[in-house]
Amino acid sequence: MKYGYFDNSRREYVIDRIDVPVSWTNYIGVKDLCGVFSHTAGGYLFYKSPEYHRITRFRPNGVPMDRPGHYVYIRDDETGDYWTLSWQPVGKSPDSARYTCRHGLSYIKYQCEYASIRGEQTLFIPLEDPVEIWDVRLRNDSDRKRRLSVYGYAEFSFHHIQIDNQNFQMSLYASGSSHQDGIIEVDLFYEDGGFQYFTAADANDESGTNEAACFDCLRDAFIGPYRSETNPIAVERGACSGSSELGGNHCGGLRRAVELEPGGETRLLFLLGEGNREAGKAMRAKYGAGTGAFSPVDAAFKALGDFWKEKLEKLQVSTPNEGMNTMLNIWNLYQAEINVLFSRFASFIEVGGRTGLGYRDTSQDAMMIPHSNPEKSRQRLVQLLKGLTTAGYGLHLFNPEWFEKQPVPAFNSPTVVPVPSVSQRIHGIADVCADDALWLIPSIVEYIRETGDFGFADEKYPYADTFDPATGEGMSETVFDHMKRILDFSAREIGPHGICKGLRADWNDCLNLGGGESAMVSFLLHWALTHFCGLARRLGRDVSRYEELTARVRESCERELWNGSWYTRGFTASGRAIGSPDCKEGRVFMESNTWAILSGAASPEHGKAAMDAVDQYLYTPYGLKLCDPAYSEPDDEVGFVTRVYKGLKENAAIFSHPNPWAWAAEAVLGRGDRAMKFYDALCPCGQNDKIEVRKAEPYMYCQFIAGPDHSAFGRAHHPFMTGSAGWSYFAATRYILGIRPGFDSLAVDPCIPPSWPSFSVRRLWRDAVYHVTVKNPHNVSKGVKECRLNGQDVKIGSMGAEIPIQRPGSENQVMVVMGA
Ligand code: GLC
Repeated sequence: MKYGYFDNSRREYVIDRIDVPVSWTNYIGVKDLCGVFSHTAGGYLFYKSPEYHRITRFRPNGVPMDRPGHYVYIRDDETGDYWTLSWQPVGKSPDSARYTCRHGLSYIKYQCEYASIRGEQTLFIPLEDPVEIWDVRLRNDSDRKRRLSVYGYAEFSFHHIQIDNQNFQMSLYASGSSHQDGIIEVDLFYEDGGFQYFTAADANDESGTNEAACFDCLRDAFIGPYRSETNPIAVERGACSGSSELGGNHCGGLRRAVELEPGGETRLLFLLGEGNREAGKAMRAKYGAGTGAFSPVDAAFKALGDFWKEKLEKLQVSTPNEGMNTMLNIWNLYQAEINVLFSRFASFIEVGGRTGLGYRDTSQDAMMIPHSNPEKSRQRLVQLLKGLTTAGYGLHLFNPEWFEKQPVPAFNSPTVVPVPSVSQRIHGIADVCADDALWLIPSIVEYIRETGDFGFADEKYPYADTFDPATGEGMSETVFDHMKRILDFSAREIGPHGICKGLRADWNDCLNLGGGESAMVSFLLHWALTHFCGLARRLGRDVSRYEELTARVRESCERELWNGSWYTRGFTASGRAIGSPDCKEGRVFMESNTWAILSGAASPEHGKAAMDAVDQYLYTPYGLKLCDPAYSEPDDEVGFVTRVYKGLKENAAIFSHPNPWAWAAEAVLGRGDRAMKFYDALCPCGQNDKIEVRKAEPYMYCQFIAGPDHSAFGRAHHPFMTGSAGWSYFAATRYILGIRPGFDSLAVDPCIPPSWPSFSVRRLWRDAVYHVTVKNPHNVSKGVKECRLNGQDVKIGSMGAEIPIQRPGSENQVMVVMGA
C-alpha cells in the first residue's frame, strides 16, 4: 500500500494520501532556528537548543497525534465552514477534500483543495534569519466571490523543556503577551532577553496592519474551554477576542480577512521568530515588504534550494539501481546532514530533553559528511576532542557548551535547573562506553583525507577534565596527542583473552559486558590504529609502537575470536562466549562478523565464512537482523539486550545501523551481488509500496525494523536520527561505488553486481570535479583493469585506481574499466 511517491525532479517526497499510519516528519532550519514537523503540520520550533530554548510547544507521544503545530485555518465567512491547509487538526474527510504534503529539503508544503479554494502553506526558515516563514497562497476556484478568514496559529512554549512540563510556578506567572503594531510579542519575563513574536503580512496591505485583522495572544482564549485545535472558538466564531495577559499560556493567533474574486489569488505570510517586537518588525519589513509578490521570500526560498543543491552536487551518482540513485542523490545525504546538525536530540521520539552530543553517535555522524559540510564536521570533531578526558575516554553524553567559556549570568533565576559542576560532568570508568572515543580517530582521518587540512592534527585543544569554564582554559595537547590517548586507553583496558573490555557498553548499548570482553571494540581498535598509523606515516612521524600494537590486536582477534565458523561477539565477565556456535541464543552477531572484515583484521577465507553466516542466519527481506536467535530470558551478565522483547531494538530486530557495515564488508570481500542484496533489503524507498507493513517514512532510514520474532515484523521505527543515515551513505559511496578520498589521491575501487554494465559518479574533491565513468564489460564484481584520467593512463594499485589530485577548479574525466 502506497501513500505517496518520490518527485526527484523537485527533490520532494509527495504524500498524496494524507492519512499515513504514523507521523511522517521532516526538519526545517539549518542553523540556529530549527523545527521538526509532521505531514500534518504538528511539531515544534526551537532556537539552538530544543531543551533550553523551545519556541513552540509540543505534546509528544500523545493523542491525537502530532499536536499542537503551526496551523493555518481557513474559514468561509459566508457558510461558517472551516478547515486547515495541513489536513489536521480540523481534519476534513479526505473524500470531500484533497490534501497533499510535500516534504522537501528543509521545507514542507501543505496543499489543500476544499470547497473550491486551493490553498498552500509552505514552512521554511531562511538561511540568514531566525524566523520561520509560513508562506500561504490561496486561490478561488469557484465562480463566485469568496469572503474568507485566514488564521495563523501556534502555541508558544516556555523555553526550558523541564519547566514547560513540570513546575509551572514561575513560568506560568512570569511570562506575558501583548499585541501592538500587528505583532504578538511573548515576553518570558523570568529570563534575560527571552522574547518571541508572531506577525503577519499580506500582499495587498503595504502597511502590515490589515484593517479586518484581529488577534489572540492567549491560547485558552483562542481555543476556548473544552475545545481543542480541532475546533477553536476563535475560528468557529470568525473572530479573535483580542486577548493578552501578563501570565498564562500564550499563543500566536492572528486572523486576516481575505476577499477573492472568481479565479482570484492572494498570498500572505505569517512570521514566527526569535526576538522581541522590534525583531518581528524588522523581519516583517524584510520579508513582507509590500511588493505584492513577496520577492524577498522567494529569494530566501531559492537560496535554501541552492544551499542543498550545492551540497548534493558534490556527489551525484547514476547507477542501474534507481532506489540507490534516489537515496544517494537526495535523501540519504539529507538525513546524514540532519543527524550531524541535530545530533540525535530533536525528533518526535527524542523530544529535546537531552541536549548534547552522544560521543559515539556524533563521532560517526561527523565522519559521513566532510565533503558536503566540512565546517560542521570540523566543529563536531573539535567539540568531541574537548569532551575527551586525559585518561583517553570520551564523555558518553555531554553538552559542548560545558567546554566553552561561560558568560556570567545577569541574574540567577529560581526556575533554572542547576548546572552540574565541572567534576560532576566528568563520569568515571564505570560509565565509559568502550567504543566511544575510538570512532573519533577514523573521523578525524577521513576529515583530513577529504579536506587536505593536515594542520588539524597539530591544533591544540584542552581535555574535558582539565577545563575551567570560568577562564575557558585547560591543559591542551594536539589532536594527534588526543588520538594517542584514545588508543592507549583501549590498549590498557583489555581482559584475560587480550580482547578489549566491553565496559558499560560497546557500540551496542544493550550489551553491557563490564569487565567482560568485546570483539567489536578490539576490531574497532584495529580500525582506528590503521587510520592513525596511516596519518602518522603521511605526516612523517614515528609510530612503530602503534604499528606493533596493530599487529598484536590482529593476532589476538584471530586467535581468540575466530571460532571455526564465524567471529565470536565477546566474552562475559565470567568467561562465557557470546555469539559463538555453542550459544543457544545470541549465536551469531552482526558486529563481530562485519567488523572483523571492515577493520582489516580478518583473513579473506575467514571473512567470507563469517559473512556467509551473516547471510544464512541474519538475512530477512527487510534487512539484516542484529543477532540470532533472539534472547528470551534476562541474563545480566550479557546485558540489557536480554531484557528487550524478541525482535525489537538490539534483541534481534533489523537494527539499521550495522546493515551498511555488512554492505561494506561484502564489498571488501568482492561480492557485489551480496552487497547489493543487503543494500536493497534495507533501502527505505524499496518499501514505498509496503507501508501497511513498514508504517514509517519511506524516504528515511529508521533506527530499527521489527524482526521476524515480533508480531509486527517489518514495521520500521524511529526515523531520521540514526547512525544508519551516515553509514549507508558512507558504505554505498565509498565501498560499493568505491570512490574514496585518500591523503593525496582519489581511489576508484568499486564492488558492484556483475550484471551492472556501468555507472557514473560526479565527485567534487578538494575543489576539483571528477566525472568518473566506470564500465564493466567483463561482468565482474570487483577489480580495476584500466583507468584513464583526461586521456592519460593512471596507476592501478591494490586499492583500485589512484587518481592524483587535480588543480582546483578543474573538471576531470575519469574512465575506469573493470576486469579481473
Ligand atoms: C542507538 C544509539 C547508539 C547505539 C545504537 C545501538 O542508535 O544512539 O549510540 O550505538 O543504538 O545500541
